[in-house]
Amino acid sequence: MISPTLAINERAKELAVAGKKVIKLGFGQSPFPVPESVVNSLSRHAGQKDYLPVSGFAPLREAVASFYQRSYDMTIAPDQVMIGPGSKELIFQAQLAMKRTLLLPSPSWVSYAPQAEMLGLPVHWMDTTIEDDWCLQAEVLEQTCKEISGEKLLILNTPSNPTGRAISRTSLIEIADICRRHGVIVISDEIYRQLHFGGETHSIADYYPEGTIISSGLSKWCGAGGWRLGTFVFPQALSALQDLMAVQASETFSCVSAPIQHAAVVAYQGGEAVSTYLHHSKIALQFISRYIQRTFQEAGILCPHATGGFYLFPSFEPFRDHLATLGIHTGAQLCDHILNTFGVTLLPGVAFGRPEAELSFRLSYVDFDGEAILTHLHLGGEFTAPTSVQAFFPNIHTAISQITSWVTPFQPLLMKD
Ligand SMILES: Cc1ncc(COP(=O)(O)O)c(C=O)c1O
Repeated sequence: MISPTLAINERAKELAVAGKKVIKLGFGQSPFPVPESVVNSLSRHAGQKDYLPVSGFAPLREAVASFYQRSYDMTIAPDQVMIGPGSKELIFQAQLAMKRTLLLPSPSWVSYAPQAEMLGLPVHWMDTTIEDDWCLQAEVLEQTCKEISGEKLLILNTPSNPTGRAISRTSLIEIADICRRHGVIVISDEIYRQLHFGGETHSIADYYPEGTIISSGLSKWCGAGGWRLGTFVFPQALSALQDLMAVQASETFSCVSAPIQHAAVVAYQGGEAVSTYLHHSKIALQFISRYIQRTFQEAGILCPHATGGFYLFPSFEPFRDHLATLGIHTGAQLCDHILNTFGVTLLPGVAFGRPEAELSFRLSYVDFDGEAILTHLHLGGEFTAPTSVQAFFPNIHTAISQITSWVTPFQPLLMKD
């Protein structure tokens, strides 16, 4: 089956071709353009045509290592870095190289489990709750590690797609301790870390360095999903795994395209323009996510607020009885209803490993003109709700108003119950 996130995008395109107005809150692509300095570097390097080393262009591996030092105070040697055609491919290659049972919190990003299934590897889902902001709890992992025999791989994504939540430092320390005791290897998928809205960010690699591979890339913070560039950082202790992945890479993708790797050096070197770009991106994402979360909460929709990235993961469980009278019993039926009635695409929780009947879904708040917003902020503009929502995020404003107006009449019933 085609990945559900890509499928919803296709469906949205079909509706648009049929002349229907579609608001796309289903697909998680960055709304921002690639920073100008990075695009200029790509143009300058368009003539680079030679194959590059399998593990990546040396200046890029150096730039990625210094990026981690500068941004997160992590000491990483350039030869611990591997460059691949997107972190999705690197995660797949890692699963192929390790052949371990995959442990996943539910909900998790859509592609981890299908990758394991394609490789014939067992997948074990670990439940989370909305009360815990959909974050993996240490005791659930401990119990799983006791129950599941054999070698295990945990993929932990923070801040998370689909929930927008970052795992707390305390939880990461507990999870690190369990993984160390049970010999679990961790892929820490940190592709949204630079889009954490504020304060300090934490990585499980700080507490379990010897067993953690850090996964990231250009797709989210740099708005360059289509450029296909991902990064892995291996600990020295997993150098044999890194070597094996390099062998696999040499027999499969060979290397990431040369012009993209040259341009990525500029992205990872950073500088004022890139920092401002990131700062403004986060202001916009935090503003709109808070607006949606507050509006949903006022309408009685359960919705933990996001701490980073592009996503919210609300639940319509409080309206279950009322929705049942409309023939809506599952998350997929709820999303279909919203698509057919309001032309808004969402992805049901089941796509992320939640129970089919649960009335949860992922909302990607990226249907806006990122370029216009960056220009506004660059010129010293600010955001104030609700006027800026209407002015700069009109599609999201329409979608959220329609959805909340639909469920608001259900609220009195809810209170009577
Ligand atoms: C959590 C997460 N991990 C990995 C990826 C893959 O990113 P890429 O292959 O573009 O690096 C995505 C993209 O949607 C994602 O949301």
